[in-house]
Amino acid sequence: MAHSLAILGGAQVSDRQWPRWPQPGPRALKSLEDVLHSGRWTISCAYQGRPSYEEQFADAFAEYCGTEFCVPTSTGSASLSIALEACGVGAFDEVVVPGLSWVASASAVLGINAIPVLVDVDPATYCVDPDAVAAAITERTRAITVVHAYSSIADLTALTEIARRHGLPLIEDCAHAHGARYRGQAVGSIGAAGAFSMQGTKLLTAGEGGAVVTNDPEVADRADHLRSDGRRRSRAPLNVGDMELLETGHMMGSNACLSEFHAAVLLDQLDLIDGQNMRRRESAAYLDQRLARFGCVGQVTTEGTTERTYYRYATRLPKEILEIVPVATVIDALTAELGFPVLSAYRPLNDNPLHRPDTRRRFAANPEYLAQVNPKRFDLPVTKDIHESVVTFGHEVLLAPIEAMEEIALAFEKVTAHIGEIAP
Ligand SMILES: Cc1ncc(COP(=O)(O)O)c(C=O)c1O
Repeated sequence: MAHSLAILGGAQVSDRQWPRWPQPGPRALKSLEDVLHSGRWTISCAYQGRPSYEEQFADAFAEYCGTEFCVPTSTGSASLSIALEACGVGAFDEVVVPGLSWVASASAVLGINAIPVLVDVDPATYCVDPDAVAAAITERTRAITVVHAYSSIADLTALTEIARRHGLPLIEDCAHAHGARYRGQAVGSIGAAGAFSMQGTKLLTAGEGGAVVTNDPEVADRADHLRSDGRRRSRAPLNVGDMELLETGHMMGSNACLSEFHAAVLLDQLDLIDGQNMRRRESAAYLDQRLARFGCVGQVTTEGTTERTYYRYATRLPKEILEIVPVATVIDALTAELGFPVLSAYRPLNDNPLHRPDTRRRFAANPEYLAQVNPKRFDLPVTKDIHESVVTFGHEVLLAPIEAMEEIALAFEKVTAHIGEIAP
């Protein structure tokens, strides 16, 4: 093993070309060309005599998730806001949100004039702690959101029980977990609604996109209206030139429709995801076992997980290393050894520069509301500790051959063995 760390000018452990993401599948190009010439680039244009790609994707994704309904959307953020509103959440309602997540988990709540109540997570799974959720519920709580973070499924047994006891909808944010299963059921199908993101880094992607899945016909109908300016898909037979979206006026909405191009790409990607998830699982199992030799503790998933998926591989560094250097130093050293970006876990949402409601005039209209949405009022020690001790990297890395996982293990070994060289 080389003596000098790559970050100090030594040789890298790996100069391999790591897999890129996203990766187009075999159907994508032909389908995109078909959309180009179809005379219909979105569902809000006239019917052209055959089911839209959007409708095909909705049917295929509902089947994939084992739900009655799927309403595709333009982004994951839109799917979260729509799922919340479709479940009856509105202005000044409190919504429980995990403190460890991407900013959208909170901004989607703010986007419907509700109040994100940030709660701490479990130190092993990094998913919301059911006891913290139960403690955060007040008479103003109108929904609980849960994020299946990185590669773990949250404790859905405990959370569905809390939601049932309080008569609250549980909204599953599945942006990281396409294809994950809990006690045999797909995530997203267990709560009142599931919200997915198909943004460019996600396991199922079209660059941008999203979906709401549910078994509740009323939630689906409201989601349909909310994402297409108050219209919903016609259930009657159509002639070429008819508009497929009916102006019912039942519920006002905004435009968050998924375009035909995006739907075509998502159908292509849906064929590939199960095989990719399986390969990621094998690589992650190898890494868990190899990195444990250097005292790293991989993220754990909740008991009851029957199919685990990996959006980011995450592992906690040993205390002895973190006593010498901060996590950011290890991250820089690993990135230099491996040539792909290693990152920390999310910055807690009570201390995240992207979560700043006070920078938007729309939230300042009411000073009482502004005080309630101030993220600084929450305390999230477990989330903070995860941010300061966990390193993560993207799922595409796990698609590399198993020899490449050995290179990752060697990089961890080298960096931990030579940590004194980069101590402050
Ligand atoms: C947990 C989580 N929720 C929601 C979103 C929002 O999705 P989008 O970027 O598609 O709006 C993301 C995106 O990264 C996410 O990671």
